[in-house]
Amino acid sequence: MANSTFRPTSGARLWLTRLAVITVFITAIVVALGAWTRLSDAGLGCPDWPTCYGSITVPLSEQAIARAHELYPDQPFVAAKAWPEMIHRHFAKTIGLLCIAMAGFAIYAARREKDVPVKHAVFLLLLVCLQGAFGAWTVTMKLFPPVVTGHLLFGFASFTTMFLLALRLSPFLRSSGDVAARKLLPLAVLAMLVLVLQIALGGWTASNYAATVCIELPVCQSGWQQWLNFPDAFAIHTYEGTTFEFAPHLDAAAKLTIHVSHRIGAMVTTAVLFLLALLLLARGAGRYRRFAWTLLLVLALQVGLGVSNIVFHLPLAVAVAHNVVALLLLQVLVALTFSLSQERAPQIAKAVARQPRPQFQSQRGRRQTARPERKKS
Ligand code: HEM
Repeated sequence: MANSTFRPTSGARLWLTRLAVITVFITAIVVALGAWTRLSDAGLGCPDWPTCYGSITVPLSEQAIARAHELYPDQPFVAAKAWPEMIHRHFAKTIGLLCIAMAGFAIYAARREKDVPVKHAVFLLLLVCLQGAFGAWTVTMKLFPPVVTGHLLFGFASFTTMFLLALRLSPFLRSSGDVAARKLLPLAVLAMLVLVLQIALGGWTASNYAATVCIELPVCQSGWQQWLNFPDAFAIHTYEGTTFEFAPHLDAAAKLTIHVSHRIGAMVTTAVLFLLALLLLARGAGRYRRFAWTLLLVLALQVGLGVSNIVFHLPLAVAVAHNVVALLLLQVLVALTFSLSQERAPQIAKAVARQPRPQFQSQRGRRQTARPERKKS
């Protein structure tokens, strides 16, 4: 619910807010493109970084393609794999530029206003740089699973940090005075941690090519318990210059263990999120009931997509959707946790909302803060 006392602010802050919202949308596209690249086995579509077979863009001319084959005789150029990789990289660079601009606007706006989340914007920039480094290592370390999973997790972390920045700058989800709902904050945080772990297990399943070892529901083929081998499934192998594409370093038992862990993780995650939604429905009012239904809906969609991955033997569109909906589920929980953390008793919430924003000097800003003052007198 919007806070009616929220006032538009200085130009720099306004631009920061706009950019944060735009960046959230572009990053959602990049996450989907990244999933499409990885899941269509195009992660090594360009064997070098930041160029692609030595070209700034994908080699197009016959001459450039001949040079690509000369440079990388062991990794023949396949346009259908190079394109997704390069499109993903170009979009990712755009995010980097947007984050630099956001950090700049935040630093500038903070000179006039106290409550601009400068540290948040600068942290986001650092996170996105780290994410870029993981992108590069994904290629240069030939799909080393810890790096691929790290790339997925840092991508989700970058998106979440961006989304939180947009939430902090926006007037939405301020206190609604529902103090009873605030008691569910610890459970919401726990649910978020469980979900992050489940996402990490999903990344580990995909990056170790363990998606197709279990073809039966609900856990795996009968007798799966006898095959479990946790030390091999979760060992961090040393990188020795070999390619990890299709995980030749793992046997079937290790892959089965990874897959089974993700399935059992799904059951635990579903139980925790379901409990949270039920308690929200029982104790919360207004927006928390809407949160509960959204959570249940997105959770059901995610489990449905996971099951479809198995039943339909991992169609690309379903695998990409399973990745994107995991991100959506995380953001629903992040927004819920943010909202719960903002809850204050109605009197305190009103007092906080009434506090004047720090003054700033721009012409436009002066007009905006002056208007309500005139009405009062
Ligand atoms: C709360 C529930 C779940 C969450 C949050 C979740 C999340 C994820 C994530 C983030 C990935 C990685 C995708 C990628 O790397 O692009 C993944 C992969 C996978 N998940 Fe789930 N998952 C859930 C439930 C399930 C269920 C119930 C199943 C099956 C019954 C399932 C089957 C799979 C499979 C087979 C993969 C590997 C996909 C691939 O290699 O392309 N997931 N999951």
